[in-house]
Amino acid sequence: MMDLKLWLSILMVCGMAESQFLRKDFLINVPSRIPVLESSCVVIPCVYSYPKTKKILNRFRAFWFRGHTMVTSNFPELRLTREFHHRTRMAGSIRSGNCTWQLYFVRKTDTGPFYFRVEIPQHKSFTFSNNKVTLDVFQVPEPPVMTIEVRNKVTATCKVTHACPTSPPHISWSRAGTWTTMSKQENKWLWSTTSTMTFTPRVADFNKRLECTVTFHGRKTTKGSVLVFKKRKQNIGVLN
Ligand SMILES: *[C@@H]1O[C@H](CO)[C@@H](O)[C@H](O)[C@H]1NC(C)=O
Repeated sequence: MMDLKLWLSILMVCGMAESQFLRKDFLINVPSRIPVLESSCVVIPCVYSYPKTKKILNRFRAFWFRGHTMVTSNFPELRLTREFHHRTRMAGSIRSGNCTWQLYFVRKTDTGPFYFRVEIPQHKSFTFSNNKVTLDVFQVPEPPVMTIEVRNKVTATCKVTHACPTSPPHISWSRAGTWTTMSKQENKWLWSTTSTMTFTPRVADFNKRLECTVTFHGRKTTKGSVLVFKKRKQNIGVLN
């Protein structure tokens, strides 16, 4: 008699291989909530997959909806309602499983919830109505997080987070100096932009506040400031 245990384990391995390589389901990965500044933009990251098939697929229609309202599609010929016209864009490659989309000039009413639908006429279609994304639209940006270090030179940083990597905020300072600004991805939907400023302090700089002004895409602004303190003389290694 053939070893039953061996036979069962072969079956199990085949089953696992099938679930891994012959997926039967439509799957999606999209955040359920994203905080967004009103008037700014947001990139809603999204990846999906469709059941495997040996058929050649060359037509993909993709849509994002809010209720029955289409908010974007990869069909430029399909007209959007006036509410979303010229404000959205399908940003990813639908064919390769990227359902990322972008919304500009975010309004208070853009909360959604939004959901994705894909139609593959040569294969299958699916509406991901159980994976909706809600935008938490806020109106007043948070003040920046700032740091300062006073040595021979003053180095200060001014950092904000946002959801609009395609148009990061603009950061400026109240005093002349050398600035560099860099953006970094913090998680799937959150980005940070940090400006680092250095200058050689003059007597007049001390005990004054150094201010940074952040202008987000859409023109909302926020400000922060730090005190340029005078470093105490340190008598390191000297016994008085
Ligand atoms: C999806 O497309 C967007 C926009 O082009 C891109 O920034 C992002 O990296 C893509 N995501 C993946 C997982 O490929």
